[in-house]
This record gives sequence, C-alpha cells and structure tokens, in this order.
Amino acid sequence: MAQQLNPIEQTHRRLTTAGKRILRLYAGNPNDQGFHFPGEILERVYRAYFRRQDYRPHPKGLPQARQAIASYYAGQGATLDPEHLILTSGTSESFLYLFSLLASPGDNFLTPVPAYPLFDAIAALARVELRHYPLCEDHAWAIDFDALESRADARSRAVLLVSPNNPTGAVASPEEVTRLVTWADAKGLPLICDEVFSEFYFGPGSFPRPMALERPQLCFTLNGLSKMFALPGLKLSWIAVSGEPARVAPALDGLETIADTFLSCHIPIQEALPALFAEGTPFLAEYRREVRRRRNLTVALLQEEPALRFVPPQGGFYLTLSVAKEMPFDEEGFVIRLMEEEGVFLHPGYFYDDESGTHLVLSCLAQEPELRAGIEALRRFIHRY
Ligand SMILES: Cc1ncc(COP(=O)(O)O)c(C=O)c1O
Repeated sequence: MAQQLNPIEQTHRRLTTAGKRILRLYAGNPNDQGFHFPGEILERVYRAYFRRQDYRPHPKGLPQARQAIASYYAGQGATLDPEHLILTSGTSESFLYLFSLLASPGDNFLTPVPAYPLFDAIAALARVELRHYPLCEDHAWAIDFDALESRADARSRAVLLVSPNNPTGAVASPEEVTRLVTWADAKGLPLICDEVFSEFYFGPGSFPRPMALERPQLCFTLNGLSKMFALPGLKLSWIAVSGEPARVAPALDGLETIADTFLSCHIPIQEALPALFAEGTPFLAEYRREVRRRRNLTVALLQEEPALRFVPPQGGFYLTLSVAKEMPFDEEGFVIRLMEEEGVFLHPGYFYDDESGTHLVLSCLAQEPELRAGIEALRRFIHRY
C-alpha cells in the first residue's frame, strides 16, 4: 500500500533537505528527550541470558514476568491473577490481538476522538471499523456520553478508553469511569483501557483505573514498557484481562491462541522484568518528577498567551491547543507556515482525527530550552498575523 505524503510531511522533508533545522514539538519518544533507564540493570540481566541462551517460551509470556506485572498492579491496589496476563511486543500489537479476538470484519469499536493516530491503521489491518465518540473540549475533554450511546449498534464489539489521553492530556474522572462501565456492562460490551501513560498522572488522588475502581464485567487493560520505563526499544507490553470468570476465561483462551500464533515475544526482556520493576523504582520516580516539571513549565508558558486556549493536561505527555484568534490559514496551512517561518513543527488536530476547527498538538516531553524556544516562536507567529 503506497501512501502519499501529506502536505505537512512534504514541507518537513523539503525544509530539512534544504538544511533548515526543525524543532519537532510533538515528541513521544522519551529516549530522544533525555530519559534512559539505568543500563547497568539491563546489562546484568541480559548478560546472564546471553551466557545461557535457552528458549523455553510460554504463549502467555514467562511466568516470572507475568508475576512481576501482577505485583506491580497489587502495589497499586488492583488484584490480578498472573494467569490473566498476556505479553505482547507492543501496545499496538495488543490492540491488533484484541480487534482480532473480539470482532469479525465489518464489526466496530467505539473509539474516542481526538485519537491516537495508529488506531486507524491497526483497525484497517483487522478490517474493523472505528466508530468515533467525541471528547468535549468545552468540558475539559470529557466523554460525550450521548454521542457514545448513539454510535453503538448491534455490531459494536467493545469501547476503548484512552486515559491518560493522547493527545488531549485528559484523564477520565472516577465519575466518568463509573458511568462508562455501567453503560458498557448494560450493553454487554467489553472495555479496552489504554493506560500507557498511567505512570504520568498529575491529577488529585490515585489514578482512576477502571479495572480497580469499577470492576467491569470484561475489561482489557493495556500497558507496557515504552512509556512507563522509557524503554520503547525493548518491545514489551501486556494485556491484563479482568472481570467475571465466565467472560474472562474464553477471552484468555482466545488471546493465548493468538499469542501462540506469533510464538513468544523477546525472551531476554521477559526475564529482565522482575529486576526492572524491583530496581527501576528510583529511576521511575525521577523520570515522573521531570515529566511533571516539564508539563508544569509548558502550562505556565502557554498560559502567558491569551490567544491560546487549552485544558491543562491531567496526565500523559500531550496537550491539545486551539488558537483563539482569527488567522488567515486553515489548520494545515497554520502548521505549514509555522514550520516554514519559525522552524517549529506541531501536529495538526486532523492527524488525530479531530476535524473540529483548528487544533494543534504539543508534547510537554521536550527539554526546557526547546519548550521555551518553541512556545515563544508559536506566540511570535500568531502575533505576526
Ligand atoms: C495512547 C497510546 N497507546 C499506545 C501507544 C503505543 O504504545 P507501544 O509503544 O507500547 O506500542 C502509544 C504510543 O505513543 C500511545 O500514545
């Protein structure tokens, strides 16, 4: 499937080929932004594996890895049987497993909009439809329940919740979680909770996790090492299956069969997992503190600009902005001209299926000098017109 580059990416390539330095302020890769898990821990566990080099996979993932993940959830007040975990090579892969498990071609999944861009591509691979339900910008990006309910039909197979959300930074409140679970249970729909940003929760109390808070009848909770431990290169994620035993058992059987089809994900990282959780806590605490600091700095810098509107993010790496000033460009034109004139690359809302006016997506993960320079350039650009 050859895909044509969109005009924004074309502009980016043209400018970089011409030698212009472009500041990309939509970073999702923590390694590029100075976050690195302590190498000594990984080296030690990997060295032990390389001396031995055996291969005794388990379709669900090595038991010691699943035990480590279950203990992580136990530490956060969520009881989980290690047998109810399936390891995968990434959260995108987890979605593909779930779309394949729950649906036949033509069935649909209820997904929030704005949305993580890869959902569309994964749904296309599984030949399923994504039915968008909007998050309301005017209500701090809360779920629009009327719209959600009206989009469901007899071919809906599950509801997705992305909390903390990419790209809005919203976190579903305990009240939203309760309402969502009550509705999904009444409809018999499983819940798929993408929690890859759960370690970066900036709101009050503890992170509102549906699996722990409301115990849906069938719930798939997704997470992994990419964001949590800043280890996107090690490709390890998981699906935690929880709910009523009669619904959990067949789901687990089906997922185990799918996982077995792909054989095992990378073995050394599975072996490393207990050490990662046991010894990675100081790194995680520092990483979390620094992400929060950059988030607070981003919010403070943006709040100085009355022509920008946004909801301060409650979690994750991202936030979505709108420009409260008449500009002579549409959303795509804005992003292109900003890149051409100021060398700053922000994502347009439409990359996230958000077609509701001009939105810009910014990541707070960038380092302080880049955040300052990028936001200053954005303000300069807005006031030039
Ligand atoms: C909301 C969301 N879900 C899933 C993923 C993919 O995670 P992984 O790296 O585990 O495939 C991302 C990556 O940025 C994301 O933003």
